[in-house]
Amino acid sequence: MGISDNNNPWRPASHGKPRQLTNNLWMVDAALPHMDIKRRMTIVQLPDHKLLLYSVICLDDAGMTWLESLGEPSIIVVPNGYHRTDAPRYKARFPKAQIWAPTGSAKRIRDIVPIDRMLDTIAVNIPGGVSMRALQGTRNTEAFLTVHSDHDTTHVFCDAIFNVGKNDGHGLFWLIYMRWLGNAGKPRVTTLFRMSCIGNKRDFARGLREAAVVPGLKRIIMAHGEVIEHDARQVLEHLADTI
Ligand SMILES: [Fe+2]
Repeated sequence: MGISDNNNPWRPASHGKPRQLTNNLWMVDAALPHMDIKRRMTIVQLPDHKLLLYSVICLDDAGMTWLESLGEPSIIVVPNGYHRTDAPRYKARFPKAQIWAPTGSAKRIRDIVPIDRMLDTIAVNIPGGVSMRALQGTRNTEAFLTVHSDHDTTHVFCDAIFNVGKNDGHGLFWLIYMRWLGNAGKPRVTTLFRMSCIGNKRDFARGLREAAVVPGLKRIIMAHGEVIEHDARQVLEHLADTI
């Protein structure tokens, strides 16, 4: 296994400790350079000592030792064209891993890493209780996971839902975009996502309503913000009603 290649040197992010959410699900948050916001990698343990990684982040040596102790990365989901940065580094380190990506972001992702499997709005189910598809109404720009665990169910979004606190950041961007435009302080489909990704509001809302009633739904993970672990169904229905 190559640790990296010359074109894709491993660059560990400044990241926190892994957090386990349920029996088969973990997350790691990392700083985003030059931005007052964190990004998140979600890790799903699959059967046969395999892992699915969603929105990958290069971890430090201790972090990668931990990750590899959980399993061998076999599916790397690049959730959209803006969470692609570390995917080529993972592909270089784990050449057998498949890159999965939503069709609507394929061009931007393929610019830096080859795609093995495309996702559209038809759900793809894989062993280990994971279902994947492109989020409805987004012109297939964002990939979305549903993970069934021993006792509950989790939805994993990337940029479609933010849940950052009003006081989580500073500066002009934070003041205008996050606070004045109401993109912080509660679960939110952000202004930028509405403008740049949502192609059909009705379809997007329908997708959220369908996600809301998935049996056993307990939590919602997103790339930016606090995991939602209470009233997940009501949160999704409210977002669908107010889109
Ligand atoms: Fe993002």
